[in-house]
Amino acid sequence: MSKRFSQLVMFLLLSSPVLSFMVGIGYVPSPATETNFSLSQDAEFIRGPTVNMVTNHSAMIFCKTNGPTDVTVRYGLDTDVTDEVHNATLDTEHRVDLTELAIDSKYYYQVVANGTESEIYHFLTAPPDGGHFKMVLLGDNRPGQDVAPQQPQNYKDILEMIVGEEPHIVVMSGDFVYHVYDNHETNLNVWRMFSEATDALGHYAPIYACIGNHDTGNGWMHDWYFLQAFEQYDNGSTYFSFDYAGVHFTIIDTEVEGEEGEIRGEQWDWLVNDLASTKQPMKFVFGHRPLYPLSHLGSSMDENKTHRNELQELFETHNVTLFGCGHDHLYNRMTVNNLIHVISGGAGAPLYSTLWGGAYNHYVSIDVMKDKLNMTSIDIEGSARDNYVYPYDGPIEIFLREIADGGQDRNGTIPLILFSEEPEQAYYSWNGEANSTTLSGLPSIAGENTLDVYAVGENGLWNHEEYTFTTILWPPPDSTTTTTTAPPINPILIFSIVGAVAVVVVVAVVFKYRSR
Ligand SMILES: [Fe+2]
Repeated sequence: MSKRFSQLVMFLLLSSPVLSFMVGIGYVPSPATETNFSLSQDAEFIRGPTVNMVTNHSAMIFCKTNGPTDVTVRYGLDTDVTDEVHNATLDTEHRVDLTELAIDSKYYYQVVANGTESEIYHFLTAPPDGGHFKMVLLGDNRPGQDVAPQQPQNYKDILEMIVGEEPHIVVMSGDFVYHVYDNHETNLNVWRMFSEATDALGHYAPIYACIGNHDTGNGWMHDWYFLQAFEQYDNGSTYFSFDYAGVHFTIIDTEVEGEEGEIRGEQWDWLVNDLASTKQPMKFVFGHRPLYPLSHLGSSMDENKTHRNELQELFETHNVTLFGCGHDHLYNRMTVNNLIHVISGGAGAPLYSTLWGGAYNHYVSIDVMKDKLNMTSIDIEGSARDNYVYPYDGPIEIFLREIADGGQDRNGTIPLILFSEEPEQAYYSWNGEANSTTLSGLPSIAGENTLDVYAVGENGLWNHEEYTFTTILWPPPDSTTTTTTAPPINPILIFSIVGAVAVVVVVAVVFKYRSR
């Protein structure tokens, strides 16, 4: 409560000059500021109805109408929807709480606004703690420049597929619109298109959302549209947490102004306390930017690697099971010291091609059971592209994530090798030479080098991965006879997993450039 109060004070202090100016020119940045209420004669639903913040015994039904009206929510365990709650307040925004619902049940509901009936939708109440529920993760639905401000058709198709899965809850990892402009009316239109599309799923399941970098604007617009677009816990904050069926869900904001890609200050303190104080047996954390990006290297949570490592360590300390994110427009899953990282950024935005693959439109369907997960990425054709069961009992997984960039000082720069669990033993070998228990600097040999990694987990199963690196010495051998006034080019040290033709092309281009 104190956090919300301090946020309100900060908002009033920071926004008062802007608001004063807007009032001065007769402009108020709220789409719902009508004061002369009278009963709307032809009520239309311009948002929703959507189901929000569902627990095992309650739900909140939200909708907006084109004019002020009262609303009645009819609901029940079948399509007769014989129970009802009436909200007599004349308004354009309506929030109606349904209480005393049956646990782990399918409810149907319909909203009636001054005689206008919505369709009958349905949702699932939460199971008891430890019970089975289905969660869906998706993200980065935003349109590309060629489509904006329209939402991508792929996104609409994926939403339809998700509705068919009948998930209990949905988490969206951010980047919902192409851009937040400086023009309020334009933004209202852009976000209206997003909400209209997204309500197709919001009718049927509560959506919890992380703010993405594309969802932020200047000044008061920083998170205003995002907060308007979703009905979730701790309304008014872009980071919050809640419990659901024995799982603690924590949503973090990686886009705090001036702290993008980091969790600092008040949010960090809140996050530490949030993870330390929950008694739920499983913990999931969601944010927009990945800790170990595949494409947005250096502009995700890895921008400050020390801080990224602190965050990973915090999650490990508090036994977080899953970190879900987006930002990279692809699907990827990896496990670092028993923390599963899932990047789901393929819900409609232009896809990113990387050496690790995963560039396909998709969503992730996750069956959550007591101490167990079964997660599947499903592409837009409906095919399962990756499946992972937690707890994992196969050989220890080995991941290469950061491309070693020697820079002009190659000493001490090494690739980042990660393991799905703390290895009992691990060995590294450059170019087939003697094994080492530590991964030291890169070999000073131009051309192709190989790195072999061997590791064994606590189940005694060994794993082996071999990576191929193409290195260029710095300075190049002919540098003493070459002069150039061009900006310095960082020495290129590009690794490639065998067969990465693109690397060869880049190296050829750089050599050609250097020799001019
Ligand atoms: Fe992003």
